[in-house]
Order: sequence, then structure tokens, then C-alpha cells
Amino acid sequence: MLKVATIGMGNIGSAHSGVYQASERADLVAVCDLDQKRSDAAAERYGVPGFYSIADLLKNVELDAVSVTTAGPENGGHHFEPVMECLEAGLHVLCEKPISNDIQAARKMVAKADETGLYFGINLNHRFVPPAAKAKEWVQTGRLGDLLLMNMTMWIGNPNDTSPWFHIRALHPHSLDIMRYFCGDVKRVHAFFNQAPGRVCYSNAQLNLEFASGVVGHLTGSYDTNPRHNLERCEVMGTAGRFVLDNLYQELTFYPRRSDELTVIRNSIMDGLSGFSATFTNRINRWIEQVDDGVPRDEIDASGHDGLAVQEIIEAAIRSHHSGCAESIPPR
Ligand SMILES: NC(=O)c1ccc[n+]([C@@H]2O[C@H](COP(=O)([O-])OP(=O)(O)OC[C@H]3O[C@@H](n4cnc5c(N)ncnc54)[C@H](O)[C@@H]3O)[C@@H](O)[C@H]2O)c1
Repeated sequence: MLKVATIGMGNIGSAHSGVYQASERADLVAVCDLDQKRSDAAAERYGVPGFYSIADLLKNVELDAVSVTTAGPENGGHHFEPVMECLEAGLHVLCEKPISNDIQAARKMVAKADETGLYFGINLNHRFVPPAAKAKEWVQTGRLGDLLLMNMTMWIGNPNDTSPWFHIRALHPHSLDIMRYFCGDVKRVHAFFNQAPGRVCYSNAQLNLEFASGVVGHLTGSYDTNPRHNLERCEVMGTAGRFVLDNLYQELTFYPRRSDELTVIRNSIMDGLSGFSATFTNRINRWIEQVDDGVPRDEIDASGHDGLAVQEIIEAAIRSHHSGCAESIPPR
């Protein structure tokens, strides 16, 4: 049974805490927020002690792991210090995405986790759905043949406008993680961005990607749409057929290259995913299971290395915007 605390008690910290509390393999034993009212309210809600600093939390509670659900600039600027403090204290860490909006900080966190041998995971929750696992099985068992290309779209409506690169840094760890999940590491990126009228951030993005495997891919991203119509779409094509994964978990279709007979798997209204929040439940339960089982570190799904890899692509995309050229991703 893992003894866990959540650090940063906004909506997302509450989502993590609820999953820990419902788990049979984890115990939520404390919460922590610099904001005393938030910490007190969460402590009351979950019936556990609340702390106003990580130092106090670490001094007073015996822990195995924490969730770091702070936010900050571009939704990731406050993750660094809590992550480093907890790794230094010997705790396994599940951190929200983006791992950081600062690539140097992201690299340091991953290096620190490697140095300590502790588990470090990122909440790249979109891949933790049964249809994505089925599509991955199709890829791995050769149903698509040799992979050739992929298209990914992720668009939501987010009017927040804190900085020019907020959209690509805060949202697209998710889409790029799905792309890497199916097609592996990315070698080069060529990116174009624009700002919707009146916006500070580059709220629309088109990225062309070349994968190390030779697959070519494309990402369309936006903060200017209505996710009620469509949140995301992922299409992967190989020599023997292609699949389309619509709306994260709504429908998965396989289109064979040499037949008209499709395979369609729909999210069941009886026992399918009940909504977006189920992606948190699935992801966090997987984290609990892997940490509690003591799996080899390189088997952790959506690890710190995966979180860093997508941020490296994002920074290369921003460099591409400035240079007008395709930019290489630093090798890992
Ligand atoms: N995975 C997803 O699908 C998903 C969806 C939305 C948001 N997020 C991510 O979740 C994170 C949190 O989002 P939110 O909306 O709950 O943020 P929020 O700003 O509402 O909450 C963050 C909390 O962290 C606290 N905090 C900051 N630094 C702290 C520290 N050193 N010690 C203790 N507490 C500290 C703040 O006081 C605040 O209460 C962000 O990184 C965001 O990108 C992920």
C-alpha cells in the first residue's frame, strides 16, 4: 500500500487525490498547498492533515510518493521546486504536464530522478484509454504493416493568454505524447504558428514531424475551437492499413488497405469510459500499480523521459518558427 500526498490543491490536485483515495493500493495521507485556504479545504474534504509547505509535509508525514499538481507560468512553471524537493527526500513523483515550460528545468528533473533511481511519471493521461491500447496492439502485432505516416489533431477552446508559447507548451505535450506512443521518437520538426485576432499566444499550430523510424507525421493544434464538437483525432497509416482514433476514446476504426471490411470499436454506453475524468483515473491507477509492483524504471508508462521528449519537440518547433527551417530534436 503506497502512502501518498498531493501537492497543489487546485481542481487537478483534487482529481489526483480522489483517485488515490478510491484506490485499494494507495492511501492518501496528506495534502499540501501554499494557499492556506485551499490546503485547509482539501484537508477537510479528504479527512487528512493539510500542510502549507513541502518542508512541513516532509517533516511530519511518512510518504512513499507524491503527486505534484502545481501550475505556474504556462501551466508548468511551478513544478520544478516541488519535484526536486520530493526526489531529494526519496519520494517517487507523478508530476502534471507540462513537465515544465522551461526545458533546462525539465532536463534537470529527469536527470535527478535517474540519479536517485526513483520513479518519475508525468500525467500524460490521454494515452491511458482502452482504444489507444487496442490500436497500439494493432501496431505491435503488425496489423498496419510497416508504419508510414500519421496525422494528429487536438483542439480546445482556451481563452487564457498569458504568453506567446502558452498554447504549444501547455496543451501539446498531450498530442505529441500520443504521436510518440504510436510512432516513437521524433527526429525533426518544421512548424508554423498564428495568433487568432486579439490573442497574445500563438493559438494555432501546424507541425510537420519526421520520426526516427522514418514515419512522417503532422499535428494540427488550436486553442480557438469548441471541444464539444471534437477534441482530438489520431490517424496512423501503414503498408497494410490505417486506423483512426476519434475523440480520444469515442471510436476506433481500422481501414484495411486491401478490403472494404472495417473494424469499428465504439465506446460502450454500458461500460465504456464515462468521460474525460476517467483518463485521470486510468492514468493514476496505472502509476500506483507500477510503483507498487516495483517495475523496472524504464517500463514506467508516460515517464519523466516521455514528458521531457515532448517538451524537446515543442522547443524545437518554437526554434523552427524563428528560423523558418526544420529543426532537429536533441538526441536523448
Ligand atoms: N492532464 C490533464 O489533462 C490536465 C488538465 C488540466 C490541467 N492540467 C495541469 O494540472 C496542473 C494544475 O492545474 P490546476 O488548474 O489545478 O492549477 P491551480 O493553479 O488551480 O492549482 C495549483 C495549486 O498549486 C499550489 N502551489 C503552487 N506552488 C506550490 C508549492 N511549491 N507547494 C504547494 N502548493 C503549491 C497553488 O497555490 C495552487 O493552489 C497544471 O500543471 C496543468 O497544466 C492537466
